[in-house]
Amino acid sequence: MRIDVVSIFPEYLAPLELSLIGKARQDGLLELNVHDLRTFTTDKHRTVDDTPYGGGAGMVMKPEPWAQALESVAGVREGTKPVLIVPSPAGERFTQALAYELAEEEQLVFACGRYEGIDERVIDWAQEHFTVRPVSLGDYVLNGGEVAVLAMVEAIGRLLPGVVGNPESLVEESHSDGLLEYPVYTKPSSWRDHEVPPVLLSGNHGKIAQWRRHEQFRRTAERRPDLLDNFDAGQLSRADRNAL
Ligand code: ADE
Repeated sequence: MRIDVVSIFPEYLAPLELSLIGKARQDGLLELNVHDLRTFTTDKHRTVDDTPYGGGAGMVMKPEPWAQALESVAGVREGTKPVLIVPSPAGERFTQALAYELAEEEQLVFACGRYEGIDERVIDWAQEHFTVRPVSLGDYVLNGGEVAVLAMVEAIGRLLPGVVGNPESLVEESHSDGLLEYPVYTKPSSWRDHEVPPVLLSGNHGKIAQWRRHEQFRRTAERRPDLLDNFDAGQLSRADRNAL
């Protein structure tokens, strides 16, 4: 996969050189380029923003530097229309399902807005060259798209083949099956008067699997009952229902 990120703060994306994603880049599993929006301006002051039409607080990002930047990264592979992700609190919600969907793409472009946002005409114009998807990390407001891009690239990048050493670990994690993950423990079995649940020491794999499933439902019901709306009652085993 190839990822291009356009930002006025390219240094913000430096953590993508670290850890699993950094290693994936070194290993050639992921090609990631960060572009400074200001290099696509033409004036002496390298201006990227201006006052909003209609008045109001704050500044709006000017359209032309964005068009120049996006044209330079679009259609890197002839005949393809890359997905352009515009992080925004006004976008569709980023979920594990969307991470899986985006991990199938050949090229992703991220446009990090700042200030009050990007002139809306950029979004309209970009539809000719990209599949445009405004995406929100959650119902809160960040200062710009960069932190959202760090989260999204990490969530997508770890799903690419070969990035996570043991692909089994992607199967039993929160949200992979629509539920939160079960609690985990390691040695020692007794620690500061807190014990590991005895079933995990039993060696009975059937019972352990049953206990873990039960804990997934119990946790989800307690912390994220909204997720259980996606399960229809007919899908649940008796053991699942008992956990609720
Ligand atoms: N930019 C500002 N707030 C954001 C959010 N919640 N998600 C994605 N991008 C953002």
